[in-house]
Amino acid sequence: MKDHLIIFDTTLRDGEQSPGASMTRDEKVRIAKVLERMRVDVIEAGFPAASNGDFESVQAVARAVTESTVCGLARTTEVDIDRAAEAVRPAQRGRIHTFIATSPIHMQNKLRLTPEEVLERAVWAVQRARNHTDDVEFSPEDAGRSEIDFLCRVLEAVIRAGARTVNIPDTVGYTMPHQFGELIRVLRERVPNSDQAVFSVHCHNDLGLAVANSLSAVLNGARQDECTINGLGERAGNASLEEIAMAVRTRRDVFPCDTRLDTTHIVPASRLVSNITGFPVQPNKAIVGANAFAHESGIHQDGVIKMRETYEIMRAEDVGWSANRIVLGKHSGRNAFRQRLKELGIEFKSNFEFNSAFDRFKELADKKHDIFDEDLQALVTEEGLEHGNERYRLAALKVCSQTGTTPLAEVTIVVDGVEHPARAPGSGPVDAAFKAIDSVVQSGTQLQLYSVNNITSGTDSQGEVTVRLEKGGRIVNGHGADTDIVIASAKAYLNALNKLIAPSVRTHPQVEQPV
Ligand code: KIV
Ligand code: ZN
Repeated sequence: MKDHLIIFDTTLRDGEQSPGASMTRDEKVRIAKVLERMRVDVIEAGFPAASNGDFESVQAVARAVTESTVCGLARTTEVDIDRAAEAVRPAQRGRIHTFIATSPIHMQNKLRLTPEEVLERAVWAVQRARNHTDDVEFSPEDAGRSEIDFLCRVLEAVIRAGARTVNIPDTVGYTMPHQFGELIRVLRERVPNSDQAVFSVHCHNDLGLAVANSLSAVLNGARQDECTINGLGERAGNASLEEIAMAVRTRRDVFPCDTRLDTTHIVPASRLVSNITGFPVQPNKAIVGANAFAHESGIHQDGVIKMRETYEIMRAEDVGWSANRIVLGKHSGRNAFRQRLKELGIEFKSNFEFNSAFDRFKELADKKHDIFDEDLQALVTEEGLEHGNERYRLAALKVCSQTGTTPLAEVTIVVDGVEHPARAPGSGPVDAAFKAIDSVVQSGTQLQLYSVNNITSGTDSQGEVTVRLEKGGRIVNGHGADTDIVIASAKAYLNALNKLIAPSVRTHPQVEQPV
């Protein structure tokens, strides 16, 4: 009988801390439902004290999810803890995760607190959280660079105060796998009451070692792994859920534990997260990259045909890869459409929402013969965008692109309900379209990223475009999908512009705390 490795997914919290990856409440609920179906044990849904919007998102996830524990992050302040408690209250199982930095560099320069003050706050916060719920997790932030004696004291004290999970973060992705594993082993050995809490790890990927560090910790007794879909997260990201889950499952001979995940939901979850955040998955990404199970060389192909295991250590279908399945087409009716979306975990809040999604589906089916699950997901994400009361909307776009001439775009943009026509030349059709839009909007933004991916295969596939814009230090990602990639690009650009003008007053969880 193997130990249970608890999977704590923080896509909706740490993942959302990636620049431009912020998600709406409904988007968070959609992702949470997929994580629940995957049998993720704990879903960290956000940082409720960050803003009213974040609070409402965590609350909405707590209401929607019944199988997984729903967790809210809190600094060691009264406001944060009480806010997190209130947000997770509707959950069948709610957890408060409180944290404070314990490394000398963070305590001296960020918190400006002495180690004794940090210890006192940590204990106080755990006790306060325990007044709300039995399920309390504590993290000594930047544990990877903390002094071992102090770390042991803090952990012993918070476990005594009632923390059931102690999470050891390598906040800046600094440790090496052998060191991190050793850290977990030593902590479990030296903290006198270590057997009264689950040891968890939370590794960042600054040196590309997040998964290696997490697995090394598991080999040394950690039994909860904090991770994200596609490795999304602050800076270089967090340990990726799919890699951890498949490593322990594929190498059963090495690991004394396994997850309870239904891994066949991994690829759909990866697509959904990529679709919603606009962060494409690199083709060679392990498990979920488009090439993860593709064999290019003739020798490999020959080997796989003779015996799959010659070059494949996992089965593509075990992680949810299936050949693009034609699910719907031009003649599919409302019931088939509703049913398939339901199977994908997508439900509509109103008939109006459903009808407008169905109209879009019909429009798409006129342009594209076969509609795949991926098309439906993109369509519904777009549908969500349409309901954000956006200020800018694309009414019409015409581009002229011809050899030997300068491409020219003509657009009509609706701004606050009023149509504005504009035209502009550009170095290519997309450049021309963006310039024409900008001549109306006068955004003053910097384009930081432009990328196009095909949603399914074939030249009639929809192109999914991601545009990252920066203005005054704020970064947003916009996305758009269409069978015409210039239209998809214009939609993505406008989506990013709409996000930029939306008010956003959010506190970052890892900023200095009020003392
Ligand atoms: O990276 C980190 O230290 C965190 C903590 C809040 C757990 O995200
Ligand atoms: Zn983190």
